[in-house]
Amino acid sequence: MNDFVRIVEVGPRDGLQNEKQQVATADKIALIDRLSATGLKSIEATSFVSPKWVPQLADAAQVFSGIQRRPGISYPVLVPNEQGYDRARAVGVEEVAVFTAASEQFNRTNTNAGIDESLLRFEPILARAKADGVKVRGYVSTVLGCPYQGEVPLADVVKVAARLHAMGCYEISLGDTIGVGTPAKARAMLLAVAGEVPMADLAVHFHDTYGQALANIASCLEAGVRVVDSAVAGTGGCPYARGASGNVASEDVVYMLHGMGMVTGIDLAALAATGNWLAERLGRQTGSKTARAMTVS
Ligand code: HMG
Ligand code: MG
Repeated sequence: MNDFVRIVEVGPRDGLQNEKQQVATADKIALIDRLSATGLKSIEATSFVSPKWVPQLADAAQVFSGIQRRPGISYPVLVPNEQGYDRARAVGVEEVAVFTAASEQFNRTNTNAGIDESLLRFEPILARAKADGVKVRGYVSTVLGCPYQGEVPLADVVKVAARLHAMGCYEISLGDTIGVGTPAKARAMLLAVAGEVPMADLAVHFHDTYGQALANIASCLEAGVRVVDSAVAGTGGCPYARGASGNVASEDVVYMLHGMGMVTGIDLAALAATGNWLAERLGRQTGSKTARAMTVS
């Protein structure tokens, strides 16, 4: 069995988009540069969405222009529409992520568009990205529950994931946006999607609202997934998902993966130090359980 797991570090975007405290642009840049030195291969840098909707990331262009991009590391950014794509390309972005959901009301609240309408918005982005040699990742939110409709039928998750993949997204990240999933449900959802989209093209994205994220990840790893989204120091949430708490902490995920004999290429001590550095800037004591344990022992 393939034992390499790629971590997609989403802290600078999914983490910081929902922090109450405004993080200085220079600190965002320093965070990404530090993360680039930990062995991570994918770092979601920021988001070119409307600054009226997510003021925390209004400095996306300055952040992306300020970071030191290292060869071999991908720095995707979120784009909701062509305007976001234009802004991203203007500063040299080479990978973007589009995002929609498996439940209608969540997508309307998050992007002011229904699911079908959001997929229509992505068509020109995917066409231009193909011509520009830009990679496109696709997110499906609310795969294990929606803050408005509650249960989300598996068939709806499979349908949206398969459509994004068919449109040309190279990888589909399955988001438990409000962190309501439990291990057996998470695995069943992943396997259902893997019936339509190759497992190698799937990623899992868990928020830790009920403390289930690591258990869900372990369950999905057993089912075959090898790409995991996480955020250093476990920051974040989603501004348009009532009740969503932080992302699962990257340090905790890497500690678990290494304990399972999996390979990540990540220096856990450097990652934990970066998490603590960020936590300090956010006025917290420590970044993650793993970082705390490593500091004490
Ligand atoms: P809208 O208001 O319907 O957009 O928002 P619009 O096209 O009508 O434009 C309205 C105004 O916004 C205009 O400005 C546009 O220029 C501007 P005005 O004329 O009023 O001055 N505008 C933009 N400005 C900068 N960049 C842009 C842009 N687009 C429009 N790209 C829109 C529609 C999609 C833009 C808005 O709803 C939006 O930005 N939503 C983003 C919400 C968001 O970022 N949510 C969090 C990310 S998703 C997430 O966290 C889930 C995930 O982690 C996975 C999981 O956990 O499930 C990925
Ligand atoms: Mg998220």
